[in-house]
Amino acid sequence: MIIRKTPAEIGTMKKGGHILAEIMEELGKMIIPGQNTHEIDERARALIFDIGGIPIFEGYGGPENPYPGAVCVSINQEIVHGIPRRDRILKEGDIVKLDIGMKYEDLITDMARTFSCGKVAPNAHKLMKVTKESLEKGLKKIKAGVNLSEYSVAVDSYVRSFGFSTVRELVGHGVGRELHEDPQIPNYKNGGKDVILKEGMTLALEPMINEGKPDIKLEKDGWTYATKDGKLSAHFEDTVVVTKGGCEILTRK
Ligand code: MF3
Ligand code: CO
Repeated sequence: MIIRKTPAEIGTMKKGGHILAEIMEELGKMIIPGQNTHEIDERARALIFDIGGIPIFEGYGGPENPYPGAVCVSINQEIVHGIPRRDRILKEGDIVKLDIGMKYEDLITDMARTFSCGKVAPNAHKLMKVTKESLEKGLKKIKAGVNLSEYSVAVDSYVRSFGFSTVRELVGHGVGRELHEDPQIPNYKNGGKDVILKEGMTLALEPMINEGKPDIKLEKDGWTYATKDGKLSAHFEDTVVVTKGGCEILTRK
């Protein structure tokens, strides 16, 4: 069931999303050679608690294997859900994905960015740029009355035109009252059941784009997804609300 949000709920998500974008900008300043990823996580948790929010990823997945961080930090070939660690040190040339979800006044927004650590290689820069642009291409399609697959096709055809590939097993999602609500939002055309967008739907759109093949593997920590071929992956995510004429991006300043 897709939960459309009330104007009051959307107002709250907008407030939370704007704050989350500011937190992301702060954390982006920590993407420098020599920085360990545990300290990025501690800073994220502190910034979220300071403004009265709750880091919603922490404990996600239930008691068996709860996600241990406030933020996901995924480096180079890691796609998403990288666990912050004291012994994981950023180095010059890395591409670093930060993913944060925050509950603010009972509503959740979710966002991710890929940052360069120092100077990165031209292929890494290209992948980051194309992934960011693919999200923009997809966002342009989001509008009440439109099929969600128009978004998926726009993202996938854009990245394919550069020889890159879209991760298929991991998808975007509805968001707001829960971190993961319906619908699932593939970033490629999967031929599955389509969804007609309606005003007030709140969606987390998140293309995960690989430099090489689309195949993924789960690392031994049980959380981190990485590319199977060891090549780079990039990720950008925004939470948006569907409107009559298009969409409003909630997780930007
Ligand atoms: N942004 C990701 C998602 O929407 C991360 C959540 S998984 C978690 O699925 F375990 F880190 F919480
Ligand atoms: Co998400």
